[in-house]
Amino acid sequence: MALQGAGLLCLLALGCLGFGQADVQDIWGDDEEICLIQSKRRAKEAKEMSLEDAIQKAGELVKQLTFDEKFGLVKGVAYSDGDFNPPFGFFVGNTAAVERLKIPTLNLQDNGQGYRTTQKPIIGQVTAWPSTLAVAATWDRDLGYEWGQALGDEFFPKGGNVVLGPGLNVHRVARNGRNVEYLSGESAYLGSELVGGYIKGVHSKNVLTVMKHFIVNSQETLRSFVNPEVSQKALWEVYYPPFQASIDAGCLSAMCAYNLVNGIHARANGDTMQRDLKDVMGFKGWIMSDWWALHSFAAAEGLDQEMPGNSPGDLPMNQVYFTKENLQTLPQERLDDMVTRILTPVVRYGLMEHPVCNPADGGCLEEMLKVNVRTAEHQALARRMVAESASWGGETSVRAAALVILLKNEDEVLPISSNVKTIAVLGSACQPEDNTEEMLNQWDLGNYYTVGGSGRVIPKDPVSILQGLQQLSTAKVVFDLSDDWKASVALAQTAELAVLCGATTSAEGRDRPNLKVDQEAFVVKVAQELKIPTVVVTLIPGAIVMPWIAHVDAALAAFLPGEATGLGIAQVLLGTTNPGAKSPVTFPLNESDAIAPCEPPEGVKFETPDQSFPCPYDEGIMAGFPHYEDKKVQYPFGHGLSYTTFSYDDVTVVETASEGCDAKACVTVQITNTGPVAGAEVVQLYLVFPEDLGQPKKGLLRGFQKVNLPAGASKKVTLKLWEKDLSTYSEEKKGWVYSKGPFHLRIGSSSRDIRLTRSF
Ligand code: BGC
Repeated sequence: MALQGAGLLCLLALGCLGFGQADVQDIWGDDEEICLIQSKRRAKEAKEMSLEDAIQKAGELVKQLTFDEKFGLVKGVAYSDGDFNPPFGFFVGNTAAVERLKIPTLNLQDNGQGYRTTQKPIIGQVTAWPSTLAVAATWDRDLGYEWGQALGDEFFPKGGNVVLGPGLNVHRVARNGRNVEYLSGESAYLGSELVGGYIKGVHSKNVLTVMKHFIVNSQETLRSFVNPEVSQKALWEVYYPPFQASIDAGCLSAMCAYNLVNGIHARANGDTMQRDLKDVMGFKGWIMSDWWALHSFAAAEGLDQEMPGNSPGDLPMNQVYFTKENLQTLPQERLDDMVTRILTPVVRYGLMEHPVCNPADGGCLEEMLKVNVRTAEHQALARRMVAESASWGGETSVRAAALVILLKNEDEVLPISSNVKTIAVLGSACQPEDNTEEMLNQWDLGNYYTVGGSGRVIPKDPVSILQGLQQLSTAKVVFDLSDDWKASVALAQTAELAVLCGATTSAEGRDRPNLKVDQEAFVVKVAQELKIPTVVVTLIPGAIVMPWIAHVDAALAAFLPGEATGLGIAQVLLGTTNPGAKSPVTFPLNESDAIAPCEPPEGVKFETPDQSFPCPYDEGIMAGFPHYEDKKVQYPFGHGLSYTTFSYDDVTVVETASEGCDAKACVTVQITNTGPVAGAEVVQLYLVFPEDLGQPKKGLLRGFQKVNLPAGASKKVTLKLWEKDLSTYSEEKKGWVYSKGPFHLRIGSSSRDIRLTRSF
């Protein structure tokens, strides 16, 4: 099959962001003909250089570049004008290579759950990982590193040397269509603690990370026009910390958000980009625009790169501003600063020594469309992330990194007893119909395993909950997938236990219409009618409401868990895995308890860049889980049960170095597995500041540790409180102020299951 053909096809406009399936088929034939080449170029571990050396080396390179070469770095290349899609064989974003200086192209590819499946042949060649929010539910710092490495190992052989992730925005709006792409869940601290591993893992494979979306990208409803009115205090305490943590972990690239921030678009906001991110947080990398987010030439405000760099027609929202003419108006130092910032991570993380393919002239077609990076190892990791494969009664050396959250388990209905001879699996969500073709035709369509939009990784033959049970259960499995409650109830009469499924998905570009699962009426009715023990399993992109919960015995939830969904969930149901996940979001009692997306005034059409509508963040620093602190909730932030029980004893607080504490305070607590089987607990510490500081009354997450314990075993867990953990942001002083306390500590198994308290 002639690769030159691809060059010609590069000129064609290709469909939607599902990207020209017809043309892919023309070149590669149908599925059967696609020869999968097992990844042959494994990235090597990178030798990391210091930031100072990297900046200096990047600066030296910049001195050797011509203006045209700089132009090829600060603006995306390759999309042909008039098109919303990259040409065939190009990435979601690309810069030009400077071959004489060995500067490779930057091949930018999306990642919400792995390498974005922009063309049909890629499906099944890459791992459809669990969503980023699902990974947050593991509260497992080490897993972030492992996953980051695996992502690097997939992107690099596929030709991608820049991962357009992690997404880090702290959840404000429960219905936000992209919450599932965000690692922070409802807590800046959780995101800050988990992101470092991800970033270092990806970088270790000579691939860059891009933290996004900077900043307050809290909703998708009219995302380019919404104007969050947010205090400095909320920015610094709630929304910025995961970005600061990424910088601290070595991230040297950021993507700005589409929305405005206090009246100015995030992509042209000198306050957030230049002052806060670069000057105050010390970010030495580059800021790229989100795709077509620019509505002015914003280099003076701190933007360093425009993406994707073309103008698809006369649309006012999609013009290009990083033109040669505009760039020539900049002082030389600023242009050089922009390019230095882009080249700093390239130099630091070994991209020059580990070049990827150059998409120009079809140079990446083989990598993109033929290389199979979904190794057996990665498939096993994807499954382990859903549910650890260790035997729950035996091996305890293996981390319980399960992301399946056990929300409720009355009368120990779970794990399913071996006395249960027949399990009834009920509801279409237990085995959703394959919508791969529809997804390929609509870029922002998701399913119950993956989010819709740029973060989507379409799984090939994902394992459904029904299939997982059929494969792993020794009991007979009967099923009804019709969502007809009468049929389900009738079938359940032949079984001793029912697994009832509900699910919903979400997408970029729009918020969820409500917090319901798609089959809510069915789930409620069946739950009410069934007379046998009933377990509800939900696959969801964030918080949901659960009007069925009082009628069922047990409930599990997982956030769009990717290709291994059913296997992992079956392991938890059957007890080969003991769940160890904790919810990174609150499940509210009623939808009206959650913050809704801001809506514009009725009847106004939003079409031009000068339009906006206000979105007051009146809750200030109470965004995220503290928003619910005075409300009853269904399940609180940090909640997640286990098949065993844990006791919390002997808490001590040490504040001095002489006693071996190198932080401001070291909190030690003894955890004992008091139940019958091995399990994992996430010890959580909530810190209450002195009242006059106006912080959440029930405290902020300021420490956690996941511990694995065999039945009967104990472990001392030490949680360290650093100066930054004990500080609040002062608008008056324009900085962090360390508080000497007194502090109140609340230590427990969730934000509302507090087992021990102390003051210091
Ligand atoms: C999204 C980004 C994404 C970019 C490139 C935008 O629509 O907001 O998150 O990285 O597209 O696909």
